[in-house]
Amino acid sequence: MPPRIYLDNAATSWPKPPEVVEAVRKYMTECGAPAGRSAYASAQQVERDVADARRAVARLLRADDPRQVIFTANGTDSLNLALHGLLRGGDHVVTTVLEHNSVLRPLHALQSSGVEVEHVRCGANTIVDPADIRSAIRPNTKLIALVHASNVTGSVQPFEEVYEIARKHDVPVLLDAAQSLGHLPIEVAGRSGLLVAAPGHKALGGPLGVGILYASPDVPLAPTRQGGTGTKSQEPQQPDSWPDRFESGNHNVPAILGLAAGIRFADQHPHELQSLHAKLVAGLDTVAGISIYGSPDERVGVVSFNVAGWQAQEVAAMLDAAHAIEARAGYLCAPLVHPLLGSEAGGVVRLSLGRFNTADQVNLAVAALTEIAASSASF
Ligand SMILES: Cc1ncc(COP(=O)(O)O)c(C=O)c1O
Repeated sequence: MPPRIYLDNAATSWPKPPEVVEAVRKYMTECGAPAGRSAYASAQQVERDVADARRAVARLLRADDPRQVIFTANGTDSLNLALHGLLRGGDHVVTTVLEHNSVLRPLHALQSSGVEVEHVRCGANTIVDPADIRSAIRPNTKLIALVHASNVTGSVQPFEEVYEIARKHDVPVLLDAAQSLGHLPIEVAGRSGLLVAAPGHKALGGPLGVGILYASPDVPLAPTRQGGTGTKSQEPQQPDSWPDRFESGNHNVPAILGLAAGIRFADQHPHELQSLHAKLVAGLDTVAGISIYGSPDERVGVVSFNVAGWQAQEVAAMLDAAHAIEARAGYLCAPLVHPLLGSEAGGVVRLSLGRFNTADQVNLAVAALTEIAASSASF
């Protein structure tokens, strides 16, 4: 069997930088104490390390105050906190057909509490028109939830224009940066009415099990769960102070420290996916029977397509079984965009690049797909 080629970095990045693995190993083997709970020396050290990690995320986002950075379990957890922490019955939300189920499903659940949801459509380029977002805003619109880069096609959405419209209408924006943070710059300094949700385990290179939610200080976010924070422990109610207000229970310390190491690594080893992405698209473009979807942005490394004569899942299974190429196929947890792409019967095949993929791996993927496309044409 040829060596394994991992092309599922949009799900979670792999391999992780050695510094991330080392940070997790060091904590697990040399410390292991909880953060923010106890006064003994190792626990105090962990508390400082978690605070450093929070500052690293704040610096990455150019946030004025690290306390506005909330650690969560993953991107889904961050989005749930934002949506359930902000929306109440009678509120209206503008979102898009490009969203991931981690936005669509919480919004669906909130509809039973009287929240109204409007999904703005996009064209075949899978980019929403900010004018359509503007037209969808109503007097009771309390949030615009926008994916920054589609996890299906990799298209980057016009966040700046949407944010400007939202400010004019005094509506907060929730940016789902799951596929963009770590690839594209996101700056929150001095901005009000903004929430940014992201996993720590994708382009930032951290381990699974950590996410972040940034919320600007003016956003009236309520906690969605209560419990021990290690602060004001004699009081029955949840503390008001950020981020404790949202961070009940023990932190996932190894993942948080790994995330901090991932951010440091990315700082010291800047990496661009453009040329690899361009090579992959150019290669696939030459294969008869392959059609690529949307307007993939070269910076986020996501390319989706179908191969004539094969179901998306069949293509992924053949890539894995015969070529050891690991790709994702199906609806990719973003069901509403497929009717617009014409991929509602089985979804798409997605190859997603990461910082450790090579030009050779891209060549092998194109060669494998050429073989698969030809085998369909031949019967
Ligand atoms: C656009 C988008 N939003 C949210 C998520 C959820 O992130 P997580 O897997 O960390 O829960 C994903 C994950 O693939 C995603 O692609």
